[in-house]
Amino acid sequence: MKLVVIGGGPGGYVAAIRAAQLGADVTLVEKEALGGTCLNVGCIPTKVLLHSSELLEEIRGGEEIGIKIDGKVTVDWKGIQNRKSNVVNKLVSGVKGLLAVNKVKVIKGTAKFKAKDTVLITKQDGSSEKIKFDNAIIASGSVPFIPPIEGSKLPGVIDSTGALSLENNPKSLVIIGGGVIGVEFASIFNPLGCKVTIIEMLPYILPPVDREISELTKTKLVSEGIDMYNNCKVTKIEESKDGLKVLFTGDNGELSVEAEKVLVAVGRRSNIVNLEAEKNDIKTERGFILVNDKMETNVRGIYAIGDCTGKNMLAHVASDQGVVAAENIMGKNKKMDYKTVPACVYTKPEIASVGLTEEQAKEKGIDYKIGKFPLAANGKSLIMGENGGIIKFITDKKYDEVLGVHIFGPRATDLITEAALAIRLEATVEEIVSTVHAHPTIGEAMREAALAVNKEAIHMVNR
Ligand code: NAI
Repeated sequence: MKLVVIGGGPGGYVAAIRAAQLGADVTLVEKEALGGTCLNVGCIPTKVLLHSSELLEEIRGGEEIGIKIDGKVTVDWKGIQNRKSNVVNKLVSGVKGLLAVNKVKVIKGTAKFKAKDTVLITKQDGSSEKIKFDNAIIASGSVPFIPPIEGSKLPGVIDSTGALSLENNPKSLVIIGGGVIGVEFASIFNPLGCKVTIIEMLPYILPPVDREISELTKTKLVSEGIDMYNNCKVTKIEESKDGLKVLFTGDNGELSVEAEKVLVAVGRRSNIVNLEAEKNDIKTERGFILVNDKMETNVRGIYAIGDCTGKNMLAHVASDQGVVAAENIMGKNKKMDYKTVPACVYTKPEIASVGLTEEQAKEKGIDYKIGKFPLAANGKSLIMGENGGIIKFITDKKYDEVLGVHIFGPRATDLITEAALAIRLEATVEEIVSTVHAHPTIGEAMREAALAVNKEAIHMVNR
């Protein structure tokens, strides 16, 4: 079985390895670096920068935990950038090695469909190669969406890729969009001494996050000195004496903010323009490739996974979809289940959630209960100097089944796996609380939040 995978991101390379494990003859085509957006200009480099700025904040707060610093603590922007490149390069070469071990042939070039069983690959030196396949997986990812705002092409207006490779730490930054990218970059640059302003068109930030947690996050970001404008529409970006001026309208009429750089983070769009997919009858909708739960497109033998399908633009979803596609190609019968997909936002403290938000439970007319535990009452959170977080359980009223878990606190992104498994196994509150949780951990607060559903938490007053 000859398989061609288009795109070497966390969707494509995982699909290629899984198909090769199952005996397929796999060719992977990638025009840039292996690892895609995630490894090169997304998840990994942003978290490297975040790690440095979080550490800086902790060092500055050292006196509170009995650590005194004699001398200056300064930011070495070049040093941070070098570390970012080192981590990225290590992971990219790891992917290269894994593909080689699994005997996946990697071609550096740009693929497009020539027929329903043929791709044409144009290589960097201008030469080309046609490959016939039995199956293909499109994993071409996404690119930042730049809205048609006047001035959005001015120098100094950047997207997330540009923000990761700035030559200097900017003095000021306006971020258009208070979604995941906007909030994560605000969390990177604010502690580094950059004046950050977020302009968001909705009345709240982080639209998919449980509203109570998005409000707590907003309050924390504002308390740290970030200027936040909600309900605002950007009308124009223009040059000014200090860099750029962003003009916007909101509840208080016309406003403007000046900054050295402007980061546009209003979402991403699929990256399929040069594939000639539609020309070969592959159906799309609003620019995304249409797929079913088995990751099949409407054309037999051609599958699509990851951001280009627009299902749920997360690296871990792309990888799971890749495994589903590869296994189906190799004769299994697998389906994607999005019910237990965790979502994480790397603020300080972190946000992580899985399942229904309270707003979704209301919208669906579900009779639900809530259990909440404040991390101010959790020993490990206090030890770590984080006491503003919460853990919130949403359960079904009749059976006490766990429907959603939302965490705002340290290590949230690691803790969420327990909740994802609970939802996957249709666990009840009783099953969470009868599981012994280690002490002292943040994880104990998961059990307390579950106990709070029935007003039985031990370490707080139940109301
Ligand atoms: P997003 O969809 O998360 O947020 C975009 C925000 O911009 C929304 O709040 C929206 O209301 C706002 N917006 C849209 N148009 C606007 C305008 N003209 N003016 C002001 N605000 C406007 O998109 P984002 O943050 O660009 O992220 C793209 C994708 O990448 C998302 O699907 C996200 O889940 C994914 N991602 C995931 C991460 C993670 O898992 N930790 C990290 C970064 C990105």
